[in-house]
Amino acid sequence: MGKKKTRFETEVIHSGYQPDEHQDSLVPPLYQTSTFTFGSAEQGEKRFAGQEEGFIYSRLGNPTVKILEDRIAVLEQGEAGLAFSSGMAAVSAVLVALTKSGDHILCSQGVYGCTFGLLELLKEKYAINHDFSLMDSMEAIEQEILPNTACIYIETPINPTMKLVDLEMVASVANKKGIPVVIDNTFCSPYLQTPLTLGCDVVIHSATKYICGHGDVIAGLVVGKKDFIKQVSRTTQKDIGGIISPFDAWLLLRGLKTLPVRLDRHCENALKLFNFMKRHPKIDKVYFPGDPEHPDYSIAAKQMKQPGGLISFTIKGTKETAQQFMDQLQLIKIAVSLGDAETLIQHPATMTHAVVPEEERRKMGITNTLLRLSVGLEAWEDIQEDLEQALEKI
Ligand SMILES: Cc1ncc(COP(=O)(O)O)c(C=O)c1O
Repeated sequence: MGKKKTRFETEVIHSGYQPDEHQDSLVPPLYQTSTFTFGSAEQGEKRFAGQEEGFIYSRLGNPTVKILEDRIAVLEQGEAGLAFSSGMAAVSAVLVALTKSGDHILCSQGVYGCTFGLLELLKEKYAINHDFSLMDSMEAIEQEILPNTACIYIETPINPTMKLVDLEMVASVANKKGIPVVIDNTFCSPYLQTPLTLGCDVVIHSATKYICGHGDVIAGLVVGKKDFIKQVSRTTQKDIGGIISPFDAWLLLRGLKTLPVRLDRHCENALKLFNFMKRHPKIDKVYFPGDPEHPDYSIAAKQMKQPGGLISFTIKGTKETAQQFMDQLQLIKIAVSLGDAETLIQHPATMTHAVVPEEERRKMGITNTLLRLSVGLEAWEDIQEDLEQALEKI
């Protein structure tokens, strides 16, 4: 009899793990080992030749890491998963696996600053060019796909401007042309958005964020078809070596168990704070996918379960006004991450996107007064009061 299919809230706790395969331990054990012993020389030979299942060396696979990889694959509704030492290790392993010198990558208009840096590096060193696209119509995407386009790379909601890309629409164009669609799903986590079910091919996470949820791990995850994951694991992951440590994988398994509970609260708090910020006279624009006036509101309603826990906004005034406002905050911490229990604020133009040239930043909509708030799990009234008192002082 097959295993009964259970719901997301159950899968985050149980999927990918069988206690009876691990000494009946309720919680997945931490296999903190660099290598595994072979019973004989012949067994070692067979494992290396792929003729016998089993672990060899933790850069090639580890039981704790494997549980995490199997679990994220279930949550993203994909065939297989792979864990990395950082979100950027995951992004680079995927992009290097999918491209060769002379290829082209079509990207959403706005990506995380270090992803931008990686795209520049690929261009300079390996002649792998890229173009940014608004991806707002099928016709535009069809024209922007070049004969040498090796993949389409998307962030949605886009960091930090919160613009959205219609994943089903992009995937329908790309699928016809046989071009893989890669999506960085960090802002949503699989609880809010499952791109593989919308026709995308590869999902990437900076697991450092909502998946970890506690601000104590840097990690990345990738989910896709079995063959692709096998290819990445045997090439760009194994040989470049950006693997996750077993302890970090163990912490992520622990964090994942509360993902839906945490995200419900992040989203609930964000919605309340959005309503406050939208009406505040010292705040100019607020970018939040849950805003009915957001130009991509209908896309958010179609592909996201809830609008998320991130709000970007511009302060009336100058860069200095925005920085003065940040310096007045007491509870909210100035830090560049997101998805933690603590509410965090950052100034993309001088922090996460400082590496992006000003001209490109302008095209991405990153102005000097733009701030990004990662709404935490504190009482929303306390977060609002902190914003209120800091706004009063500028
Ligand atoms: C959307 C997005 N993708 C990728 C990354 C990179 O992840 P990491 O810092 O885990 O390498 C980040 C980090 O902030 C991010 O926000």
